[in-house]
Amino acid sequence: MSVCTIITGAGGSIGSAITRAIANEGRNVIMACRNITKDTPLCQQLNDECRGTVTIMELNLASLDSVATFAHRIQQEGISVEALINNAGIMCKEYSTTDNGYEMTMGVNFIGTYLLTHLLLPMMQERGNITFTTSLTRYIGKVDNKFFDLSASNYGRFKAYSRSKLATTILTAHLARQLAPCNIHVNAADPGIVNTGMIHMDAWFDPIADRFFRPFISSPEKGAISALSASASQVSGMIFNKNKYSSIPSQITNHKYQKWLINETHRRIAPWLK
Ligand SMILES: NC(=O)c1ccc[n+]([C@@H]2O[C@H](COP(=O)([O-])OP(=O)(O)OC[C@H]3O[C@@H](n4cnc5c(N)ncnc54)[C@H](OP(=O)(O)O)[C@@H]3O)[C@@H](O)[C@H]2O)c1
Repeated sequence: MSVCTIITGAGGSIGSAITRAIANEGRNVIMACRNITKDTPLCQQLNDECRGTVTIMELNLASLDSVATFAHRIQQEGISVEALINNAGIMCKEYSTTDNGYEMTMGVNFIGTYLLTHLLLPMMQERGNITFTTSLTRYIGKVDNKFFDLSASNYGRFKAYSRSKLATTILTAHLARQLAPCNIHVNAADPGIVNTGMIHMDAWFDPIADRFFRPFISSPEKGAISALSASASQVSGMIFNKNKYSSIPSQITNHKYQKWLINETHRRIAPWLK
């Protein structure tokens, strides 16, 4: 398997729908999963059902060592990456931290994903695709020079999640510009509101929402369409919403803290970039 698509969180709700669709096209897929034991049965099932070859590899985005080990393995195995779909993401109810001491939601959704993408860049094919997963919450997210300062005392799940998704969209715009000369397409995919575990709020109204709200929102298969469209596209710097796309808005493309965010994140991940 020398040419493949890498999908993070490939065993999750939207991730498994993305993985199945790509493997069904006869393409080779690497499922980059935190929990190999949980997701190996899906990998085996997809190998039985689909035309493409599906392989599973361990990747914990909450550990920068794990991210570096994963990327090193891809390099050692001589794999050429035709598409990277950064699908994995979390929204943590309680404050917790990654192995490297970052708030967990930001650490997984943004910092680990950022490092992974950078380490895989040398293995990306020309005209390859990098897809980041954004969310409508980017509209309420805030990125400033306090971005890395979330602590237990000022933590809120939407606060952390929306910041991570705005930061991810800022990064998408930055990389789209930076990688244009290399002919690598970089886009964001917004799955919409999708019927997955992520929209469970651990609140009294969950049973009501489950009954009256969930039946009307997108299935994981529909939610997967945005990432599938983005990862097959020949455009860059767009946000995909199902089959449609539009340019990343200028307030994100020219975000006041874009340069600061990129430089500061680079400084923090520098030891793993060597
Ligand atoms: N559901 C929605 O309405 C919605 C809306 C907008 C955007 N999104 C985005 O869509 C993406 C997929 O979400 P989903 O709804 O399908 O949720 P999900 O079913 O909970 O899937 C999340 C995936 O991320 C993986 N993951 C979590 N922590 C990880 C880590 N430390 N390292 C590696 N992988 C990790 C999970 O692995 P485990 O299975 O091992 O936990 C799981 O495979 C996320 O980026 C999310 O932010 C979702």
